[in-house]
Amino acid sequence: MFDLTKLHTFGLAASAENYSHFKSFRELSDNLNVFQTGRYLLLGQGSNCIFVDDFEGRIVRLDNEGIQVEEDERGYRLTVQAGENWHKLVVFCMKKGIFGFENLALIPGTVGAAPIQNIGAYGVELAQFVEYVNCLNLTSGRNIKLAQQDCQFGYRDSVFKKNPSNSLVIHSVVFYIPKNWQAVAHYGELLKLKQPSAQDIFDKVVQIRRQKLPDPDEIGNAGSFFKNPLVSRNHLASLRCDWVDIPYYDVDQTSVKVPAAWLIDKLGFKGKKEGGIGCHPHQALVLTNDGTGTGKQLLVLARDIQEKVSQEFAISLENEVRLIGKKGPISL
Ligand code: FAD
Ligand code: EPU
Repeated sequence: MFDLTKLHTFGLAASAENYSHFKSFRELSDNLNVFQTGRYLLLGQGSNCIFVDDFEGRIVRLDNEGIQVEEDERGYRLTVQAGENWHKLVVFCMKKGIFGFENLALIPGTVGAAPIQNIGAYGVELAQFVEYVNCLNLTSGRNIKLAQQDCQFGYRDSVFKKNPSNSLVIHSVVFYIPKNWQAVAHYGELLKLKQPSAQDIFDKVVQIRRQKLPDPDEIGNAGSFFKNPLVSRNHLASLRCDWVDIPYYDVDQTSVKVPAAWLIDKLGFKGKKEGGIGCHPHQALVLTNDGTGTGKQLLVLARDIQEKVSQEFAISLENEVRLIGKKGPISL
């Protein structure tokens, strides 16, 4: 049995039957037999996976490192190995004067996991910089190069999430960052910045995140537990009869996005606890584990939130985190 408690930022006590850790893609390719002997789950830094039970299978981690930069007239092409830490890459780029990732500062996790849910924050999504995602298809044994348009990126979504057999191992990501940098400062507190530089945005994002989001080293969490739901404009109009101050962001002509944090907050969950599992007192969308929580308590609280939001607002919340049960991903 392999202890997983420290391998996921939510920190629930859990174990796996087996564990394989590869330092290079070559090493992984030479040991494909680990994928042929039963259930497996690829794991990065475990900041979007919550083990709600003991996993009856093998955890596989690929910690390959390396950042290669090529420059042309228009921009920079970065080939980054999957095991690199995302925030370390953002800092590397800032130091080299390669700007574009600054809004995505301080997002935990690996570069290899970043395309899975198309990480995003403060008005920017990873997808806009992705040129290719290099993967190994475990079913065919072939290396494939998925171009940006084949990745089906959406809000916290990509083709990789629709890969039910979990058979694609991302081993590197190629980004193209144009030189014609423009500040993206239309989200929340970034609006207060006057003609910000990339460094100003980076500093502000780091400051906001440190204030608002709990540090997983201090209290177990996996960032936003639910996605922000899409709501039709008609539905929004009816909700506004009862909730005049409901915040929303325009998405297209027919739909808007409503902050799940607001819905959960309005129902009084903020600061509440179910055993060792809590709804964070500063950010209602973040569920936490004080170190004594259990998978069962987490599911009880999460389902309670989901049910009450559905009853009160007729909105169904979808989990953003990946919940892992005995046999693999489970739904709420
Ligand atoms: P893991 O949790 O280890 O894995 C996530 C998924 O990727 C799993 O399905 C796993 O099987 C798969 N996977 C991992 N590596 C590979 C690989 N090499 N090949 C194929 N599949 C793989 N996310 C945002 O988008 N925006 C935010 O602002 C944000 N803020 C956060 C704040 C906090 C405090 C925390 C804890 C999380 C936050 N997240 C945010 C979520 C998380 O940081 C991202 O989803 C991140 O990309 C997960 O990386 P990871 O390496 O930890 O992935
Ligand atoms: N709000 C409340 N109560 C709260 C917190 C927020 O009412 O306790 C309301 C406020 O109206 C606020 C709005 O919710 O204006 C949005 O809050 P915030 O700016 O904190 O962002 P969020 O919608 O909760 C999303 C992402 C985060 C990302 C931030 C910044 C999702 C599911 N979450 O959070 O991503 O960092 O925006 O872009 O889209 C993650 O994916 O793990 C994550 C942390």
